[in-house]
Amino acid sequence: MKYYFAPLEGITRYVYRNAFEKTFGGIDKYFAPFISPTKDSPLTPRNRMELESENNSSLNLVPQILCNNPEVFIDAASRLIDMGYKEINLNAGCHSATVTSKKKGAGLLEDLYNLERLLDSIVNFGLASGLKISVKTRLGRFDQDEFFKVLEIYNEFPLSELIIHPRIEKDFYKGDVRIDFFKYALEESKNPIVYNGDLFKKDDIRKISQLAENSPAFNDALMLGRGLLINPYLLFRQDGDGKIDQLFFKFHKEIYEGYKEIMSPDKNVLYHMKELWTYWARNIEGCDKEIKSIMKSKRYEEYDIGLNNIKAKLMA
Ligand SMILES: Cc1cc2nc3c(=O)[nH]c(=O)nc-3n(C[C@H](O)[C@H](O)[C@H](O)COP(=O)(O)O)c2cc1C
Repeated sequence: MKYYFAPLEGITRYVYRNAFEKTFGGIDKYFAPFISPTKDSPLTPRNRMELESENNSSLNLVPQILCNNPEVFIDAASRLIDMGYKEINLNAGCHSATVTSKKKGAGLLEDLYNLERLLDSIVNFGLASGLKISVKTRLGRFDQDEFFKVLEIYNEFPLSELIIHPRIEKDFYKGDVRIDFFKYALEESKNPIVYNGDLFKKDDIRKISQLAENSPAFNDALMLGRGLLINPYLLFRQDGDGKIDQLFFKFHKEIYEGYKEIMSPDKNVLYHMKELWTYWARNIEGCDKEIKSIMKSKRYEEYDIGLNNIKAKLMA
């Protein structure tokens, strides 16, 4: 089985990806959080920094584009090819209202004529330039049955992979994944399929693997996002147990030092660290008071006290 790290905007930045790879590894492909090119700005300086090969040299990285305009996509993609990339992923899943109202992300799934036109242009560009085009998609915007037509569109094009998060836009990340629709895709997709969604425990991984393994369309790959964020040991340990040991603090240090190198002042670095703690907190028991003090910290000194208290408690 291959394992992919899902794109998580604001979180799986290059500092995080490198820290994860160095500490835990075991990831076959990392998907970078989306970039959102425009006609006047195909790649921002920050996009370049995040995707630059020297900042990602030990990773197998796929950039992701959030876009509904073929020319804008192709302009950005050409620059990514120049940077050495051989696969680009189209975001057809983002559920944020500011994105979908512009018919991007999951908003692409409403106007199938436009989706078809976009795929036609970018897949042909891919074929002509040797660039693989993959898609990460939800089932639809408002109704799961939209997926029947959506899959028909995807089936018209040779995608390198179709990564399916079997929810609709209005689900956000709530409720159970709509697994019957993933099964339908396994039967009907002409493109290689990857599963994404709610893989939090080894047992979740086992169940999906068993469900998909005999389907010729399954690409033997699972994409994990929050499961790895919450418990970075999930794939690293045979049983997926999330018990914290020194490795976690090594991982933390890589991220913390990495952000300090590229950001200032304290509050910007701490903002990113606190976002991570909202996930890590779900894997750590008995440290509520210490985590609360981390969340309240405004300066490195305060943050470090909270961190050291957690370390002392968990490593005792
Ligand atoms: C904070 C956050 C940021 C995300 N950013 C992106 C993104 O940039 N591109 C994307 O395709 N999906 C994004 N997603 C969706 C995830 O890639 C993934 O599809 C989702 O979390 C479901 O998988 P999981 O249950 O394994 O987390 C984001 C999700 C979260 C929670």
